Amino acid sequence: MTKILIIDDEESIRTMMRMTLELDGYEVLDAEDGPTGLAVFKEHAPKIVLLDVRMPGMSGLEVLSRIKAADPDTEVLIITGHGDMDMAIECMRKEASNFLTKPISDELLSVALKQAMEKLALKKKIREYTENLETLVREANVELEKAYQFRANLIENSPDAIVSVRKGGEIVIFNSAAEKLLGYNKSEVIGKMNIVKLYPPGEAKRVMKDLRSTECGGLGILKKREGVVVHKDGHEIPVYLSAAILYDQGQEAGSVGIFTDLTERKQLEKQLLRSEKLSSLGRLSAGIAHEINQPLTGVLTFASLLRKKFVKDESTRKDLDIIVRETTRIRGIVQGILEFARETPVRKQPIAIQDVVEQTLNIVVRQERFFGINLVKDYDQSVPEVVADPSLMEQVFMNIVLNAVDAMHGSGTLTIRTRHDSDWVMVDFQDSGEGMPESVVDKIFDPFFTTKDSSEGLGMGLGLAVSYGIVKNHNGDIEVDSQVGRGTTFTVRLPVNPPSETGPVCEV
Ligand SMILES: Nc1ncnc2c1ncn2[C@@H]1O[C@H](COP(=O)(O)OP(=O)(O)OP(=O)(O)O)[C@@H](O)[C@H]1O
Ligand SMILES: [Mg+2]
Repeated sequence: MTKILIIDDEESIRTMMRMTLELDGYEVLDAEDGPTGLAVFKEHAPKIVLLDVRMPGMSGLEVLSRIKAADPDTEVLIITGHGDMDMAIECMRKEASNFLTKPISDELLSVALKQAMEKLALKKKIREYTENLETLVREANVELEKAYQFRANLIENSPDAIVSVRKGGEIVIFNSAAEKLLGYNKSEVIGKMNIVKLYPPGEAKRVMKDLRSTECGGLGILKKREGVVVHKDGHEIPVYLSAAILYDQGQEAGSVGIFTDLTERKQLEKQLLRSEKLSSLGRLSAGIAHEINQPLTGVLTFASLLRKKFVKDESTRKDLDIIVRETTRIRGIVQGILEFARETPVRKQPIAIQDVVEQTLNIVVRQERFFGINLVKDYDQSVPEVVADPSLMEQVFMNIVLNAVDAMHGSGTLTIRTRHDSDWVMVDFQDSGEGMPESVVDKIFDPFFTTKDSSEGLGMGLGLAVSYGIVKNHNGDIEVDSQVGRGTTFTVRLPVNPPSETGPVCEV
């Protein structure tokens, strides 16, 4: 039942209105002055108030103000007498809903209340709509935020580097993969750096030109192609690059580039090429070496015999010495070629790699060229055994150690470290020698590549090619890290549990 409060100092009016309103089905409360009325209002919170504008003590205007302050939705109908028009207008300004002039007829009262009720209902509806709308807006915002977050996550967590720029090249998006690939932090580039710096000179311009042409995948699109980007430290990184122009209302607003790191792939390709080159060269040289070996043995045997025969003829003996020495050198070369072609049988067995390193060192450290070298050993005693041919591994380590000694030219430090993880046992040979430029590193595993003076019999360029072949034959790998003037580290890696040579054993 709707509650109505009547505040009027005239009792007759209160009684008359109470009767009419109760008949119309309202619950009626009344008060004879402002303060009492406000107290009743506070206690019962009626939705409609009939308020006499002229009362002794607190004025109707004041009561109206306080009611509206307490609950602005209350419908306050003002009751006025003749001559109170100014006051009534003032009340309407203070958001009274209507006014009734005394004497009040029953019908007029009923109509006015009906209107007040309708207004109340309307207000309620508006309130509900507003609340509903607020919920809808809130929900829409949450959805929007989610969609935004999802997209941001997608970009941030992409395995490919994503870099987006405004028109002109200022970087605005730089995801984690881009940080990893290019070595910059987001905070160093976003809003601070131009994309031009991420490419070799002139390349950014070329990419933009291709993007704006129709020839590389369509207007505004650059289809995946190989390219190069520049790391923070200046080195170039091979990548797959694809890009697109971003438009805003038909206008070019910026562009986005996606980069996939090709370093590992390029290395694999290089390895594959090296293996192929080695195996075809190996087959060819093995054939030639065999052919040379036979007559060579003949020459060496007869030259040695002749030397004995002319032992007293010094000049002839000296000439024959030269023949013997040079032929012996040729035999050494042939031996090297045969080894390179893996003509020697492989005998694999479980071995402690540290022991092989020690055996190798025992042989080399006695050589004069090792005297000025400071040797540091850093062995991890928990390294597991590997299955390998000890004499072949010794040959590999010997090659690497002698190269290191050569590179240090009589003084420096050679650090030999053993370590392991769950899959690999690794031996690092770190020297403080002259180091190599990238152009040399690229070729060191090529057979017959040497920077040493081969005419003086210093290097044949077979050491690393042979070593590489041996290690590959053990399912391992040789890695190299070198800096000119600072030194080189060779890492030999062998598998902890090499695949069985005889294939899997099946239980029947
Ligand atoms: N530790 C190193 N520091 C600097 N350069 C190196 C190092 N190891 C190898 N090299 C370079 O790699 C080249 C090839 O090495 P590799 O062992 O295959 O042949 P070599 O030592 O020249 O001759 P060989 O081993 O047949 O006597 C060397 O000539 C040298 O230029
Ligand atoms: Mg060598």
